[in-house]
Formats: sequence, C-alpha cells, structure tokens
Amino acid sequence: MNVRKNISLKPFNTFGIDVKAKFFSEVRSELQLKKILSSHEFNSVPKLIIGGGSNILLTKDFDGLVLKVSIPDIEIISEDDKIVVIKAGAGVIWHDLILYCLERNFGGIENLSLIPGTVGAAPIQNIGAYGQELKDVFKNLDGIFLNNSNVAKFSNKECKFGYRDSIFKNKLKDKFIVTYVTISLSKNPVINLEYGNLKSEIERMRFNNIGIKEVSEVVCRVRLSKLPDPAKIGNAGSFFKNPEISEERFLQLKEKYNDIVGFNLGNSKIKVPAGWLIENCGWKGKVVGNTGTHTKQAVVLVNYGNASGKEIMNLAKEIKESVFQKFGIELNEEVNII
Ligand code: EPU
Repeated sequence: MNVRKNISLKPFNTFGIDVKAKFFSEVRSELQLKKILSSHEFNSVPKLIIGGGSNILLTKDFDGLVLKVSIPDIEIISEDDKIVVIKAGAGVIWHDLILYCLERNFGGIENLSLIPGTVGAAPIQNIGAYGQELKDVFKNLDGIFLNNSNVAKFSNKECKFGYRDSIFKNKLKDKFIVTYVTISLSKNPVINLEYGNLKSEIERMRFNNIGIKEVSEVVCRVRLSKLPDPAKIGNAGSFFKNPEISEERFLQLKEKYNDIVGFNLGNSKIKVPAGWLIENCGWKGKVVGNTGTHTKQAVVLVNYGNASGKEIMNLAKEIKESVFQKFGIELNEEVNII
C-alpha cells in the first residue's frame, strides 16, 4: 500500500487550494482499492475520493485518507454495425476518452469535449454541456462500497440521474467509489448543434464536412473562449447550478428585466442561467482579494492566486445573498464543498 502522509492537495484540485491531507494514496486498480479499504489501518478513517479534483472546493485540511482514483484503460466490450459499448477506467481523463471516440467516429459525447475531470467523476454529477448529458449514453458503472469493500454495478436507472445530480450525490454520498464506467455510442453519429451559438460557429468555420470531430472542435473553441483554463486560473467550472423557477415567476421578472434569459423546461418551469443573475447583480469580473468571478462567465468563481477555500466560500455567500435580495431566487452550489 502506497500511502503518503501530510500531503498538500494543491496539485490535486483545479481551484488550486492549498490544504493538507493526513493520508494520501493514488490507486490504480480495483484490487489496490480493496486492499486499502479493508486494511486494519484505514478501514475506519474518514475518506475523500477524488478524480481530477475539478468539482470540489476544499475549505480545510482533511483529517483522513484521500484516495485519488487513477484506474486506467479504455476497451470496447461489444459492438455491432450500429452501436459500440465502451468501458473506461475511472481514472481516464474525460477528454482522453473523447479523443479515443472521435478517432473511431463513435458519436454521442462530442458535445462534452474538454470538460475537465475524470471518467469516474462524470456520473457523480451527470456531466453535461451544449445539449448533451452523460445519462444519454450511460449504460452502467462498477464500483466499491467504502464500508465493506463489496463491489456493485449500477444501471442507468439505478443511478437516478438528474440535472448535475445522481444517487452518488444523495443517498450514496461518500459511500461508494466508481471504478469503471460503461457507455453506449453510435457508429452512425447524429450531430447535435441545437445549443446556443454552436450552429452559427460551425457555419462560420466553413468546414467541408460536418461530423463529430468538427462539432468537438467548435465546442472546444466556445469553451476556451468563455471558460478559464484551470492550469492558469484556479476554478471549478460553474460554481452554482442554474436555478429552475416557475413560468409565472419568470414572467414577473421579465416585466422588470426585459433581457432576462430563460430556457423552457416544458413543465411550467424555466431554467435561468445563474451567470445572468450574478452578472446582473454587478459581480461579473469583480475581484475580491484573491478571488473573484470570471470576466467572461460570472458563474465561474476563480482563485487569482493564493485564495483559501474559506475566501471563495465567503464570496459565494455574498453572491448568493445579493442574487436572493434582487431576484428572490436561491442559488445552489454545483461544486462539492469539503
Ligand atoms: N450569461 C450571462 N452572463 C454570464 C454568463 C451567462 O448573461 O456571465 C447568460 C447568457 O445569456 C448566455 C446564457 O447565460 O447565453 C447561457 O450561458 P452559457 O451558454 O455559458 O451556459 P450556462 O448556462 O452559464 C451551462 C453549464 C455549463 C456548460 C454550459 C454549456 C450549468 C450550471 N452550467 O452554463 O457547465 O458548459 O451550460 O452547456 O449548468 C459546469 O457544469 O461546470 C459547466 C461549465
């Protein structure tokens, strides 16, 4: 067992927060994971599971064992003329899986290009972007329960996916470690350019052919133009979820704020971009000490240098309060606060 002591977690979270873990171990196989979980030394200490560390905000030292899951490999487990079923280790970098699929023209996840993080983290919050969500291609996942090291498989239905949500953020929060994810992709991809400005961007680029590689290229361009690169400025993508409000409430707000943006969810609910609400409270691009919101996307909180998790939490709290005061809407965090 390769367990290190008193390790800084700064390299392991995209916010770049410098807190310490009492114990730290990087696991590369299911067997290693089982060994450590069932060991006398570690079976009862608190555990924190991390993948790419791209959706967490660390607010204090972790007095337990941090397990970084780095299980590798991508394999095709079955295929026919139309469908291919792919199994990937939880430690595979999400965008590496995208590249693998683009190379072979397997479609269904190209709109999720460049989402930071690992394959194992993807189902936890049902990652989504530009009109696609993981749940649309997800078949099942394998993993291990933390308390007794039992292995289990979860089907799409059993994962209880929702908007940036799953059973692993609720009933099984901190109770289960994902080891493998299996997805089902199409060999005759149908491209999806419905979201935002994807269609106009792709037209502007005048490709001869428009396939999933081109869609991925456009998604990467749009992302890079709007979202800060965590390697340069610490961040964890959208800090808050986009709130859903009633149609009635939306129309009231629309009377007062003519340019408010909303997406009809079809059940008398409207999803309002948290970025719009935050920008319209005057926070966009604002710098507060070592923290702030991104200049091009107000829902992304950033660490400009040596911010602590608490500073970022305080900023988030202020933002939440001002959005509530102005619009009567409560924002909820997308990022896991630890
Ligand atoms: N907007 C503003 N001001 C801002 C940001 C956005 O007014 O500062 C408005 C604009 O009108 C824009 C609209 O909000 O047209 C939507 O913005 P954008 O397309 O950037 O998407 P988003 O709703 O802010 C969501 C996801 C992102 C995902 C994009 C694209 C959430 C919380 N965020 O952002 O996911 O990449 O859509 O699909 O659902 C993430 O989860 O970490 C993430 C980055």
